[in-house]
Amino acid sequence: MPIRTLAAAVALMLAGSAGALEIHLPPETAAYKPSDLPGYQLVQRNCMTCHAAQYASSQPPASPRAYWEATVKKMKKPFGAQFADEDMPAMVDYLVKTYGDERGAAAPAVAKTAAAAPAAAASGKDVKTLLAANGCMACHALDQKVVGPGFTEVAARYKGKDGVAAVAANIRNGGAGKWGPVPMPPFSQLSEADAATLAKYVLSR
Ligand code: HEC
Ligand code: HEC
Repeated sequence: MPIRTLAAAVALMLAGSAGALEIHLPPETAAYKPSDLPGYQLVQRNCMTCHAAQYASSQPPASPRAYWEATVKKMKKPFGAQFADEDMPAMVDYLVKTYGDERGAAAPAVAKTAAAAPAAAASGKDVKTLLAANGCMACHALDQKVVGPGFTEVAARYKGKDGVAAVAANIRNGGAGKWGPVPMPPFSQLSEADAATLAKYVLSR
């Protein structure tokens, strides 16, 4: 596309969304990269409320551990992020190994292990644990829209249909367009059983 057309398209998009608080990001930059490092779950829980993962993925790849320490500290003070100090070391470890100068050590093997790992398949985790570990409630509430639809709204849409499989697939795959233009990041690290547990929970609201 010629630059000018692109600029016009962007201008149109901006004009179209003026006034709306929605941020349009493709899912792959909105979500943090899956990892087996414990800090991944913490980052999903603690770092998705104010901005997408793009802020982390656009940092210089050579940024060292000290840089990530300072950045995470800064999110808490002065920016006001709410997470426990003891979450910090694991999050810094995940960030520097995923986006900073310690990449390569841990990152690439991960997707494969996550798929094969018995840990991912170990289901029977209860809904509360799954919701907390995956940061679902950073974007969802029960009875009102936050970033994503309220769970009662989702249940109402699927009322009278057996939506468990479809909704479980939507949780694992993420995507946009069913409720609005804002994408839900994929949660492919969830086992199918855990995704079904979450889907059943949502549909029973
Ligand atoms: C309370 C809201 C809030 C939370 C929660 C939050 N951030 Fe931020 N973050 C900000 C603000 C505000 C900025 C600066 C935005 C700007 O400059 O436009 C920012 C910027 C950043 C940047 C860009 C670099 C910089 O120094 O500006 C990175 C990287 C980042 N955040 C990572 C994280 C990580 C990792 C977490 C979780 C530990 C997190 N953020 C949680 C508010 C937050
Ligand atoms: C970063 C924000 C974000 C997070 C985190 C998030 N969601 Fe979503 N979710 C969304 C958005 C946005 C949509 C609407 C997508 C669309 O319009 O297609 C959505 C849609 C859904 C839907 C409706 C699917 C359907 O079939 O219509 C369900 C159910 C859902 N999310 C459950 C979850 C669960 C469970 C988690 C945690 C594992 C989660 N979400 C985490 C943003 C998020």
